[in-house]
Amino acid sequence: MSTQAGRTQVGIIGAGPAGLLLGQLLHRMGIESVILEQRSAEYVLGRIRAGVLEQGSVHLMEQAGCADRLHREGLIHDGTLLSIGGENHRIDFRQRTGKTVTIYGQTELTRDLMDARAACGARTVYEAEDVQPVDFDGDHPRLLYRKDGVQHELRCDFIAGCDGYHGISRTSVPQAAIQLFERVYPFGWLGVLVDRPPVSEELIYTHHERGFALCSMRSHSRSRYYVQCRLDDRVEDWSDDRFYDELRRRLPRETAEALQTGPSIEKSIAPLRSFVAEPLRFGRLFLAGDAAHIVPPTGAKGLNLAASDVFYLAEALRDYYQEKSKAGIDGYSARALRRVWKAERFSWWMTATLHIFPESAGFDRRIQRAELDYLAQSDAAQTALAENYVGLPF
Ligand code: APR
Ligand code: PHB
Repeated sequence: MSTQAGRTQVGIIGAGPAGLLLGQLLHRMGIESVILEQRSAEYVLGRIRAGVLEQGSVHLMEQAGCADRLHREGLIHDGTLLSIGGENHRIDFRQRTGKTVTIYGQTELTRDLMDARAACGARTVYEAEDVQPVDFDGDHPRLLYRKDGVQHELRCDFIAGCDGYHGISRTSVPQAAIQLFERVYPFGWLGVLVDRPPVSEELIYTHHERGFALCSMRSHSRSRYYVQCRLDDRVEDWSDDRFYDELRRRLPRETAEALQTGPSIEKSIAPLRSFVAEPLRFGRLFLAGDAAHIVPPTGAKGLNLAASDVFYLAEALRDYYQEKSKAGIDGYSARALRRVWKAERFSWWMTATLHIFPESAGFDRRIQRAELDYLAQSDAAQTALAENYVGLPF
């Protein structure tokens, strides 16, 4: 089979938020990129993911020139509610940190980035098959792939592995060169999306004897609700009625009574996992976003961590092309990992504090109750939560 050759400065694997945001930041810096995505654009846009943006992530969308709709339609939240033992405690982000978060679905953010990429004429190859990063340990890395039965070779200066947890980038690295750290949790989240107004103006994170629950939203008319479920639960066994009954039982009474229900437009179960790969750079291959790390969704950090990785990487590449400096590239992994581990810690802590662990009893359960009691009463504990939730600086 003949091979079609091409060339670009930065070859990006994956058109999720990490790959697309990197592409736009590079474009604004005058650096050319090609994105190779194994799925179609419609498939990528069909995935339902979280939607809480730190101010730093909003700022990056501005830098990428993609924040107009986000500013028009995003909901700014000054705080969140913690429901502990049937009582609501409000954590005021603005008062405690001077910062807020913006509610804007990852699907919408992805769409804005895709539109901007199409508008500036940058190339994305959707439905690229068998993408393979090769020769990244030398000066001339290449991306091999197939498209419509034709074999292609894309020569590049650098490769950005933005291909998510199941991607090819991380697994292309020799095993001896990479270290993996993982924690798997003994429960999942069952989520429902519904076209009904949210039960509360702010998110409600709930700790209850029956398990964790979360009331979230996508807009003033679309809500996203979750309940902690068993890992062996099946979506088919959860009718909408069963889901709403379970959710109501875990919420404070007035909230349960105010809940507006309707037919689910999406329902799925997601396992919870913490995962970090080290380092994030292998010669001329960089990992960013879910390709490099996973957080459980409890702190809403997944998308925001992808954004900070991409910020560090875009800066490093700018320094390389504009200043002929390799310092940013050499420092990328350590710089990004410092922030990654702090978000990992926070997400692990939120998860451990708010969920019911099936095996936990006696001492562990008492410690968890003390932690929750402390959180409910201590200014310092609430400020620490707020500081991490709105996002540590980068
Ligand atoms: N070749 C090409 N593309 C690939 C390959 C491959 N071998 N493997 C995966 N991809 C694509 C996926 O189809 C997906 O579109 O890479 C993209 C990765 O996107 P995400 O999984 O959304 O990861 P990322 O961009 O890092 O975004 C992080 O998404 O998963 C959430 O919680 C996470 O919100 C966070 C954000
Ligand atoms: C969501 O809206 O899907 C969501 C919000 C906050 C989280 C997790 C998920 O912590």
